[in-house]
Amino acid sequence: MLFYLPAIGAHFIFFPYSSEGSDILLLTPPSSNVSLIEYRLIGGTLDLYFFSGPSPQKVIEQYGELVGLPTWQPAWGFGFHLCRWGYHDMNVTKEQVTSMREANIPLEVMWNDIDLYHALRDFTSDPVTFPAEEMRRFIEELASNNQHYIPIVDSAIGKQVNSTDFNDPYLRGAELDVFIKNPDGSEYIGQLWPGYTVFPDWFSENVLEYWTEALTNWSNLGIEFSGIWLDVNEPTSFCDGSCGTGANLSNTSIPTIHLPGDPGNLITVYPEGYNATISGPSGNITVNGTLTYGAGTSSGGSSLQKRGLGAAGLHGVDLTSPPYAIHNGNGGLGVGTLATNATHAGGYVELDTHNLWGMMEEKTTHLALQALHPGKRPFIISRSTFPSSGKWTGHWLGDNFSSWLYMHFSIQGVLQFQIFQIPFVGADTCGFQDNTDEELCGRWMQLSAFMPFFRNHNQRGALSQEPYRWDSVANASRTALNVRYSMLPYWYTLFANASQFGSPPVRALFYEFPDEPELFSIDQQYLIGRDILVTPVLTPNVSTVDGIFPGRGRVIWRDWYTHDTIHASTDGTNTTLSAPLGHINVHIRDGSVILLHAQPAYTIAETRQGPYSLLVSQAADGYAFGTAYIDDGETIPPTPNRNLEFHARKGAVTISGNGSFDVKEKLDSITILGTAALSAVSVQGKEVHSWEHMQAQQKLVVTGLGLSLNDQITISWK
Ligand code: NOJ
Repeated sequence: MLFYLPAIGAHFIFFPYSSEGSDILLLTPPSSNVSLIEYRLIGGTLDLYFFSGPSPQKVIEQYGELVGLPTWQPAWGFGFHLCRWGYHDMNVTKEQVTSMREANIPLEVMWNDIDLYHALRDFTSDPVTFPAEEMRRFIEELASNNQHYIPIVDSAIGKQVNSTDFNDPYLRGAELDVFIKNPDGSEYIGQLWPGYTVFPDWFSENVLEYWTEALTNWSNLGIEFSGIWLDVNEPTSFCDGSCGTGANLSNTSIPTIHLPGDPGNLITVYPEGYNATISGPSGNITVNGTLTYGAGTSSGGSSLQKRGLGAAGLHGVDLTSPPYAIHNGNGGLGVGTLATNATHAGGYVELDTHNLWGMMEEKTTHLALQALHPGKRPFIISRSTFPSSGKWTGHWLGDNFSSWLYMHFSIQGVLQFQIFQIPFVGADTCGFQDNTDEELCGRWMQLSAFMPFFRNHNQRGALSQEPYRWDSVANASRTALNVRYSMLPYWYTLFANASQFGSPPVRALFYEFPDEPELFSIDQQYLIGRDILVTPVLTPNVSTVDGIFPGRGRVIWRDWYTHDTIHASTDGTNTTLSAPLGHINVHIRDGSVILLHAQPAYTIAETRQGPYSLLVSQAADGYAFGTAYIDDGETIPPTPNRNLEFHARKGAVTISGNGSFDVKEKLDSITILGTAALSAVSVQGKEVHSWEHMQAQQKLVVTGLGLSLNDQITISWK
């Protein structure tokens, strides 16, 4: 919990550093202005940490020192990811890659959901719909175009198809004794997509060997993935308890499950304000942006103990029905997941360790990927997390809905995971459950382009929502992705700071402006780092958006696209901005210097091979400062790198750096905002003439620089 009290500053209470189920109650007695927090744990150790800040950013960094700092992401991870449940064969999957290219919308990573699997079993590909050798060629073709492939890995391992056909990964796991057990030592058998399943026991001795071997075999068979998507790792089970114990295991059907999109389970819900009288998937708008209906809808507005084997547990606690039932809102603790008496190596039981399952899978997967791709940063996106998960994985916000409300919620979600030290996070863009529509998808593609993890993912049976499906969404996506890829050095530096110091890349406005209480509750806007303010549209059928410009008039905010200074309200109230379809408001703070890629390209690799440009947004006194961290984008640190510092004052910008990384791409141009009329520009002490000054924006642009960022640089003007 992060608290901010203006007189004291920020502090943070982290509780419990325990995997036990707990209730946390905020109690405010009647006629009292004092609130009490009551913590109720069902077991384990009462570990309570206080972090004193005093700034919001400091408390987050202090928490990072405790739980561990976020893993380094490969540069390609910042590209655009496309996924859906329902790419039912390889051709449909390939068509997405082709259609994205034809529409010239950058696609960095193509994903497959469980459609990929043979009989819905992990570490397989269907021999008919996803033949392994063809998949190998497809993935190699992606790689030759600097693109990547990510498949899903479910938490549970299918046991058998019938009485004679057993699943190889099951047989190998049984041989290595890596699966969770019943209290009597027999195999725990639950149910997931493939029918009866077993669950890896991340406490077991051989589990890393098992998992590494399974991932390696899969890759060698043709599914040559660049990263892994860990799903349903709470872990999910469709039946109560060890339902396979004593059952007829040849019967692999799961009677109660109708897949979304199948008869009887059609997807019929659309976003708020969807206009059903307009045929086709556009809904709110006609194609390419003419609004078609009346006033918009508001968007609404989030030390382990060993109990030993045996049903009653070591301390006499009834593991399946503990004496205190926490208010988890979902019935018994084993509903939809492993039973609380499911038993791990070492005698740990699920009652105590349940919340660790996902994080331990992430750690094991991370180590397995390191073994498979030595020296390379593992890329993992996972659903379940626990304190310290950020050391191993990124996260997506789970099964959201295709609604304006959920798009709004995604901002809170991303901000929360910055506090949790799992900063590489994003929502299913355009929404997962239910149908999306053109307007929502366009606005959401723009918003997620300014979030760390950017993936469009969709439910089976829902309306298709790839960004090329509508012209207006394609246009909005191209524009937003262009900005995202040009900003990559800035994102990359923020994430280097997260991995080195725990600094949150995405920030609530009050982190940077803690003395302005009107910002405390703002969740419709956010900052990327210190310097970029994002003000998205979160409601349908509008062409303006309201936003606060922090600083109460002391900060100069400039428009990202035009570089115009914004004349915002100076008393902490909203300013109304133009926000036609296809436009997302982005503003640059003064006193900042941002390194950019000058030529955003189709992929991250091609973008990184192009030249750099520098954007300087001077404060009123000419001051500006920034940094950039550059390395090869893929090797696990420590690896050669270069840290650049940019300093501006009235009349000059200097660039200095240290580190051994050779930055081959040159600095091509520099844009300095806040410069009065001038008559001469010098680069490295010599006058140059390749410059232009725009009085309206007080903007100086110097081009044709061709300077090495390995050298000290001075650019001056008078
Ligand atoms: C649940 C995941 O949250 C969702 O993203 C995925 O599409 C389905 N499982 C099917 O694998």
